[in-house]
Order: sequence, then structure tokens, then C-alpha cells
Amino acid sequence: MNRSLATWDKAKRERRKMTMITAYDLTSARLAEAAGIDALLVGDSLGMVVGGEPDTLRVSLEQIQYHTAIVARAVTKPLIMADLPFGSFEESPTQAFAACARLLKAGAQIVKLEGGAEMVETVAFLSRRAVPVCAHIGLTPQHIRQIGGFKRQGKTPEAAAQLLEDALALADAGARMLLMEAIPSDLAAEITARLPIPTIGIGAGPETDAQVLVLHDVLGLTPGNTPSFAKTYLDGARLITSALADYAREVREGVFPAQ
Ligand code: KIV
Repeated sequence: MNRSLATWDKAKRERRKMTMITAYDLTSARLAEAAGIDALLVGDSLGMVVGGEPDTLRVSLEQIQYHTAIVARAVTKPLIMADLPFGSFEESPTQAFAACARLLKAGAQIVKLEGGAEMVETVAFLSRRAVPVCAHIGLTPQHIRQIGGFKRQGKTPEAAAQLLEDALALADAGARMLLMEAIPSDLAAEITARLPIPTIGIGAGPETDAQVLVLHDVLGLTPGNTPSFAKTYLDGARLITSALADYAREVREGVFPAQ
């Protein structure tokens, strides 16, 4: 495993699937590295998963910068991708560049920004200034006020055609990766086949070059709150609650600490 973007380009050429998971802290980043995960996403899902917020809109650039630095300190092998949070990049390419510089200095190798055609100019500006960009299309949680909720995208032929057009334009503008969230599998497959850059899917079927999931969903730490497209590999909430209850009981019964 190697954290360079060239590794991802090679994997695409060789049709080898790549893996990504969210990480916001040292412990989870190290566990993911030990598991051989190829890339860590310091995502703005942080606000919901860690901060208990109803959406990602309140996450600040300073928060992503802080968590990126922690994750970057924790690991050496996985690629580190950091999210540009809502309000930190949309106004202008120069605003986006200033935000990206902070995340790259914090240790990110690539930044992710949400948006389609409207972000093409920004992606081109950043790419020409040595900022590797992953564009995020489909369900873009920073746009939920406009979309009206966490809804699947690209369901009509017109919407699917627009997403394909956005994907091609973003890749043309210099995006190094494309993340597609909650779109039909056949559309994600077509985009993956047509793009020269690696695609990452979440709720976009099995044909993308890589998959990403939120760590807390994979570990079963968010029961009752897990998106339908996620898969849970551990009964984490039950196991951890039971360990904590054992600790509390032993303290109350005078079993721990022992003499
Ligand atoms: O913020 C995040 O964790 C994300 C993933 C859900 C793709 O953008």
C-alpha cells in the first residue's frame, strides 16, 4: 500500500478495487491502516457522526483541519483525503485555494469538494495550482436544503444525463478522483467506464473503482441510523455497551480495582 495518487491511477488501469473509510481520530485511523484500508476520508460527516448534528452544514474548516492533522499524524500508509466543508470554497476559486492550502498543510494528500458543473472552474483553478481534487457528485449532503433531504439522485433520464455530463466536465477540468453518492448502479458503472480517473462509490453499486463507507456504520456504532446502502460488519454498539457495563458493575461491586 502506498499513499500516492499514482497508486490509485494504477489500480484503475489494472481494475483492482480500492478501499476507503472515514476516520476522524488517531485510534480509528490506526485501526483502518492496520486493516489495510487504502485511503482515509476526514469527511464532514464528522459533524453528524461525532458532533450529533442533523446535517453537515455547521462543520468548519478549522474542525476539518484539526482532524486532518490528527489522522495524518496517526498513519503513514493510507492516502488521506479531507473534505472542504460548506462555506469554505463555493464563493470563488481563490477562496477554495486558501482552504485547500490549509488542509494540505495539515496533512491531506487530496481534498474533496461537493458539486457538479458549477465547480468546474474551481477544480481547474485548483488543479493548475498543485491541489489534487476529488469531486463529489450525486447526493451532495451540503446541498440538502436545496435537494430537500438525503435523497437518491440521478433517477430520471435527464438527471442521469446531467450527472454524466458533470462527471466528464470535472475530470476534464483536472479532478483526480470522482466520488459518487446514492446514484443508480448502472449510471455509476457508465461514469466509471468513461472516466480516466478513479471513481469511488457510496450507495452507487458495485462497479465503481473504489468503495467508501462511514466507519461508524461499518462498526455498527450507529444502530437505527445507518443508511440502507451501508453494510455493518460488527455489532459494535452492543459489544462496547456490554464492556462498559461490565466495568461499571465491577467498580460498584468492588471487584475492580483489585487490591
Ligand atoms: O463526509 C463524508 O463522510 C462523506 C462520505 C459519506 C462520502 O462525504
